[in-house]
Amino acid sequence: MTQVAEVSLLIHDLDAAVTPAGTGPLRGREFGGLRVHAPASIAVSGGRIVAVGPPDEVLQEVPSGAEFESVDGHGKAALPGLIDCHTHPAFLGDRTAEFALRSSGAAYEEIHASGGGIRSTVAATRAGSEDLLRSAVERHLLWMLEHGTMTAEAKSGYGLDRETELESLRAIRAAGESSPVDVYPTFLGAHTVPSEFDGSAEYVDFVIHEVLPHAAPLARFADVFLERGSFEVPEARRYLEAAREYGLALRLHADQFSERGAIPLAIELGARSVDHLEATGEEGVHLLARSDVAAVLLPACGLFLDLPLPPARLLADDGAIVALATDFNPGSSFCESLPLVMNLACTRLGLSPAEALCACTANAAHVLGLGDAGRLAPGYRADVLLLDAPDWRHVAYHLGGDRFAAKIKSGRVL
Ligand code: NIG
Ligand code: FE
Repeated sequence: MTQVAEVSLLIHDLDAAVTPAGTGPLRGREFGGLRVHAPASIAVSGGRIVAVGPPDEVLQEVPSGAEFESVDGHGKAALPGLIDCHTHPAFLGDRTAEFALRSSGAAYEEIHASGGGIRSTVAATRAGSEDLLRSAVERHLLWMLEHGTMTAEAKSGYGLDRETELESLRAIRAAGESSPVDVYPTFLGAHTVPSEFDGSAEYVDFVIHEVLPHAAPLARFADVFLERGSFEVPEARRYLEAAREYGLALRLHADQFSERGAIPLAIELGARSVDHLEATGEEGVHLLARSDVAAVLLPACGLFLDLPLPPARLLADDGAIVALATDFNPGSSFCESLPLVMNLACTRLGLSPAEALCACTANAAHVLGLGDAGRLAPGYRADVLLLDAPDWRHVAYHLGGDRFAAKIKSGRVL
């Protein structure tokens, strides 16, 4: 066996180390496929994993007499750092008043239609500053990290004017640079129509000509909320086609409350994902299963708004690429915990713990276009969670009580 030149960290004598099998996204029969090494050690060099497997085999790869940091894995299970591929952390203010209204019967869509909802967060966000936004994103990333998220997508979308959208994207970038979490920004210029515009067509013209050219260099993805009360297919298409011209990968908030053509549009445009899908019917499931557009399910949002469940089992069985995310935002999913989302996936969506793990590691990495994250395997980023439990399934099983003994980000013990 070839010895590794320099090992910086050895996580030794774990009860188990678990990773999605194979490479790339896992779908169809491969979805939920894991490799479980028990017992296991993990050797790390320069922020990357160099060996995972039985402790004696991993030790053989470590040069004798070498100096490295070590972490004792007795009684612990290791899993890949979690990847949250759909979050909205760039906002100021909160929606506690709206939450109280909803608790006494008001509907999320009614609140939106009467000018509240997303637009109330837009008002609070515009009233702040780039510095405040940056602190808010930093705080939200810290919350995510506490729950094991080591990589996150982060959307703008609470500015909806040029200045505040650009401030949001810069705040996301700056917060990502100062946080251990790896952050991938999304321009959500088409979140909803702000109150100063009369119609969605006029607003989308403004976004395409006045905002997108400045936003595109600050983002990796573009996203649109295709829903009654926000954008229909013609505007969504124009916005997404323009974003694609700037090299942005495409995402869609699709079928959250109603089916209105988002899935065929996403497939036609070669989008990376459609997210939500609480209202998706069988035809949409079949279309997705035959395409390379990932289905990102957001069960914490479903719980928060008491929505119908998305057809998770049908999507998985039909062969769609299924990912899970929190949809962290102040209005529809004030939840930053992927372990909670994994629990909901198992208890409400009919996914197994193994499928839930694949959905917020390997498949979430695929949604973000990352070929070197979401697995514990040689060459991958050394993003490792050590669960304070001998069985990795505790990450989904312990409802809201995810307990980590250690977090290792890019080979560094946090
Ligand atoms: O994914 N649906 C659109 N956007 C967010 C909610 C935004 C909000 O309510 O502030 C979502 O659910
Ligand atoms: Fe969302």
